[in-house]
Amino acid sequence: MASSSLLLMSLFLLLVVPSSVLSATLRSDIQALESIIRSIDPSSISPSSYLSTWDFSEDPCEGSGTFLGVMCSFTLENTTSRVTEIDLDDDGYDGFLSEAIGNLTELTVLSLDNNRFRGPIPETVFQLRKLTKLSLSGNFFTGDITPGITKLKELKTIDLSKNSIAGEIPPRISGLRSLTHLILSNNHIDGRIPALNGLWKLQVLELGNNHLFGMLPKLPTSLRTLSLCYNSLAGRISPLHRLKHLVSLDLSQNRFSGTIGHEILTFPEISRINVSFNQFISIEVIQVIGMETHLRILDAEGNHLQGPLPLNLATYGNLKDINLRSNMFSGDIPRIYGKRLENSWRSLYLENNYLTGTLPVEFQRISKQIRGSLSNNCLQCPKNVTICQGVQKPKSQCTNAMQEEGLK
Ligand SMILES: *[C@@H]1O[C@H](CO)[C@@H](O)[C@H](O)[C@H]1NC(C)=O
Ligand SMILES: *[C@@H]1O[C@H](CO)[C@@H](O)[C@H](O)[C@H]1NC(C)=O
Ligand SMILES: *[C@@H]1O[C@H](CO)[C@@H](O)[C@H](O)[C@H]1NC(C)=O
Ligand SMILES: *[C@@H]1O[C@H](CO)[C@@H](O)[C@H](O)[C@H]1NC(C)=O
Repeated sequence: MASSSLLLMSLFLLLVVPSSVLSATLRSDIQALESIIRSIDPSSISPSSYLSTWDFSEDPCEGSGTFLGVMCSFTLENTTSRVTEIDLDDDGYDGFLSEAIGNLTELTVLSLDNNRFRGPIPETVFQLRKLTKLSLSGNFFTGDITPGITKLKELKTIDLSKNSIAGEIPPRISGLRSLTHLILSNNHIDGRIPALNGLWKLQVLELGNNHLFGMLPKLPTSLRTLSLCYNSLAGRISPLHRLKHLVSLDLSQNRFSGTIGHEILTFPEISRINVSFNQFISIEVIQVIGMETHLRILDAEGNHLQGPLPLNLATYGNLKDINLRSNMFSGDIPRIYGKRLENSWRSLYLENNYLTGTLPVEFQRISKQIRGSLSNNCLQCPKNVTICQGVQKPKSQCTNAMQEEGLK
């Protein structure tokens, strides 16, 4: 009796004790995790969520099936494990981000996207010197981006999009030389965009849907994606001519003016250009015969573009979708546009311009259904051609357009 229980006891020790020796997450890391979960409303933690698996009767770095969303480092010479990543699911966690986060000094990833965290981002986050990714998108964070963020020299990704963050972008952010992604869209950020050309590894810059104003700053030539839509930015866009690696450019809904230069349309990898709803007066479309271009989408709706429609658009071999709605284009619709619609273009929106003349016969021959519109121009457009649906401008608005054409 006594010996068998002794045996059981030693078996128990053999099985359990060694693992509990190994399972030694640094005490203050455990306390920080406890503090993080305490700052979240328990009723917002659903039974299927990561946080519902945080069971503090087990060790955060040792448990299996517990502490989902937590990653640890294990060093051979060191029996102490440290928390290195917190990457939570989007379960709708409602609460504050505990200041204790600053004690997880080995943290490299903090990702809390699409929850209901609110209040300012605690300043203690900026003690996490090893952080490479700070992703807090889709929450209710408020307050400014404090200059403290510039202490996090290892950061590659900052994504604070879709929050209620205000204030200006700290100019010293350009000291974060490792940054590849800077995403601050959909906030209340104002002021001017500081010079960011120091961020020589930056590939993605998204600042859309804020209250930014002023002219374009110096930007790094490494950029592949640039989105500045829905701000109050103004002036010319020639500073962009150097961004030869751009794949996607969105400047829509600002106050940019002047010319959309041929440099931009012919960047070797550019695929998508959205310059809609600005005050551009011209677009330079050069012939690109024999040159490989990747431009697929051109949206220049709602500007003051004038003169004849750019004939050379037809030379862009990969172009699919064209939107030149609501400008001041005049003259005839080029016949080549009809040919392109038949074999490669998917959509063509030209409504609300001052285009004149009869619809080229090429358009009437197109057998497939075209997405597009020619309405609200000064065209003679046969009603049985689908793209002609909708009314044309009244004669009174068209006489000027006709006269100008007649003078040429
Ligand atoms: C090793 O363990 C000690 C605590 O015992 C801790 O302070 C230190 O940060 C650990 N080092 C690493 C590299 O995890
Ligand atoms: C961080 O750790 C220190 C030392 O372990 C502790 O005194 C402090 O209360 C912790 N901070 C927070 C905010 O939990
Ligand atoms: C261009 O931007 C406008 C305004 O932001 C948007 O409504 C439109 O869908 C965009 N065009 C394309 C082709 O994505
Ligand atoms: C439209 O009508 C005209 C004459 O009324 C006809 O010649 C032409 O083929 C029709 N076009 C289409 C696309 O039906």
